[in-house]
Amino acid sequence: MTEVPLSLGQALGWAREQIDGVDARALLCHVAECSHATLSGFPERMLTHPQARTFERLVERRLIGEPIAYLVGAREFYSRRFRVGAGVLIPRPETEVLVEEALRRVAGREQLRVLDLGTGSGILAITLALELGARAESVVAVDRSAEALGYAVWNAGALGARVDFREGDWLAGLEGYQFDLVVSNPPYVADGDPHLARGDLRFEPVSALASGPAGLDDIRLIARSLGPHLAAGAWVLIEHGWDQAADVRAILASAGLAQVGSADDLAGISRVSFGRRRIDGTSAIAVD
Ligand SMILES: C[S@@+](CC[C@H](N)C(=O)[O-])C[C@H]1O[C@@H](n2cnc3c(N)ncnc32)[C@H](O)[C@@H]1O
Repeated sequence: MTEVPLSLGQALGWAREQIDGVDARALLCHVAECSHATLSGFPERMLTHPQARTFERLVERRLIGEPIAYLVGAREFYSRRFRVGAGVLIPRPETEVLVEEALRRVAGREQLRVLDLGTGSGILAITLALELGARAESVVAVDRSAEALGYAVWNAGALGARVDFREGDWLAGLEGYQFDLVVSNPPYVADGDPHLARGDLRFEPVSALASGPAGLDDIRLIARSLGPHLAAGAWVLIEHGWDQAADVRAILASAGLAQVGSADDLAGISRVSFGRRRIDGTSAIAVD
């Protein structure tokens, strides 16, 4: 190393010459284990030599584009801190819309059996388990990636959520189970989409992102196999791309769901579509 100075103020100034100022502050707070207020109020506070070396390495990794969430090992979702790292999708703020919509649709209902398909770091399953509390009879969460499930299990333990995590291929291991609420943020980017080679996406697992030529292969697979797993009146909510709402609504409708619709994110873009199995359970939902 290195010319990294050892006070917080000097370290911040050094980093800001190389990376974005917000990123520099996030990395420095992480390394120095201090708040943003401490960083501003006590710039003369000294970093230890190991902290300075760690900070330098993190700035170098940020320079080549590695996501901040991976560098600090965490991302906030629905006001809770989730551990993340290479091998698992970084939680996105738009996924909070899915949580809000799911909670709104099951308001007042008890003994809910909840399923999260493609749980990743566990954000949906854990958030729903904690927000529903005693109203959740059970929360099952599935992912094909053992690495992702490692993060999810850790997060559930740290946040005190009771979730039954399963390694598997969508609904394949859930014969005989029925659910009242199914949520999923599946891969939905088109194979070969140039965004996969840009920004944070370059560092995230492609198996968490890409899904066939139009990005809809996994959503179709899920919709086709949901039938036997939906209790009467069950809600299904799926996150998708900004331009996929009409396609996803059509997929849900052709899977036999009623009350099909979409919900907008804060930018007014439909990012979640939903449907419901009829209360009398009569809908003929296609089974592959
Ligand atoms: C877009 S990520 C969503 C992760 C998390 N739910 C979130 O919102 O941050 C999609 C997840 O689906 C998982 N996945 C992909 N194909 C799968 C399959 N066939 N069966 C189960 N999970 C799958 C990926 O491993 C990844 O964790």
